[in-house]
Amino acid sequence: MIIGLIGFGKVSKNLINLIKSDDITFVTSMDGRSNKTIGSIEKLEIDVLDTFKDVAIVSDILISANSPKNAIDAAKNYGKFTKGIYLDLNNISPETTLEINNYVENLVDGAIIGKIDSDNPVLYLSGAKSDELLFLDKFIQTKKISDSVGDVAILKLLRSSYTKTLSALLIESAQIANEYDLEKEFFDILSLTEGDDFREKSTSRINNTLNNSKRKAEELEEIINCFDKNELIMVKAALEKLNQ
Ligand SMILES: NC(=O)c1ccc[n+]([C@@H]2O[C@H](COP(=O)([O-])OP(=O)(O)OC[C@H]3O[C@@H](n4cnc5c(N)ncnc54)[C@H](OP(=O)(O)O)[C@@H]3O)[C@@H](O)[C@H]2O)c1
Repeated sequence: MIIGLIGFGKVSKNLINLIKSDDITFVTSMDGRSNKTIGSIEKLEIDVLDTFKDVAIVSDILISANSPKNAIDAAKNYGKFTKGIYLDLNNISPETTLEINNYVENLVDGAIIGKIDSDNPVLYLSGAKSDELLFLDKFIQTKKISDSVGDVAILKLLRSSYTKTLSALLIESAQIANEYDLEKEFFDILSLTEGDDFREKSTSRINNTLNNSKRKAEELEEIINCFDKNELIMVKAALEKLNQ
């Protein structure tokens, strides 16, 4: 079996590390890629073809893991040449996922949840062809959500909406606790119900949100646009907080 990769960043490198089988060959192309990506490809000694079109043609599974902005172009330019399954792993909206479905034959909507460079991320799939990818469970925990392309994209967005909104609330509460010189106690009492690692997880979540507040705010805006039929009072408040 041949798995083609459009994009050779953190996601693709970790998939190669996890999916190790004599029956699977990975292929990609260096066409138009940066020195960083070319260096990564050379290090892993995988098969390299002249163009991404060639990669698409030979692939039984073609994985698009490049960037949310490039996801539609990758599908338009290369996805149409594959007769295999087109697995999109980019962080894209349900709307973009449905647009991609117009350009490729066998789309599976995918998401990797959990730290990508950990040993145990989970791969979620939706789309009629998902069943054909369930063998990946041998290498990476793989779960099918439904036959509908777009369901995983909705879940991804809801997860992102929940974690980012919660982070904004955590930032606000921890700031107040700090003003009263009660930050340690604040985390201690919450740990009683939220689990021993609450402080550690919260601190990491707060730092991550503060260090990337512009990107996180943009992602919240995307969520608000995507679910524009819903009220989203909490998400809008979180956006206001992040914009401060
Ligand atoms: N990292 C995560 O934890 C994670 C988890 C789940 C999903 N995702 C999603 O998965 C995708 C990839 O993430 P990543 O972390 O692997 O990104 P990354 O480390 O930034 O790597 C992106 C790769 O895509 C390549 N690329 C960009 N434009 C391309 C194009 N037009 N044609 C072919 N290759 C192209 C880049 O090559 P150049 O260097 O030449 O630009 C680079 O090799 C993103 O959409 C991200 O949202 C990421």
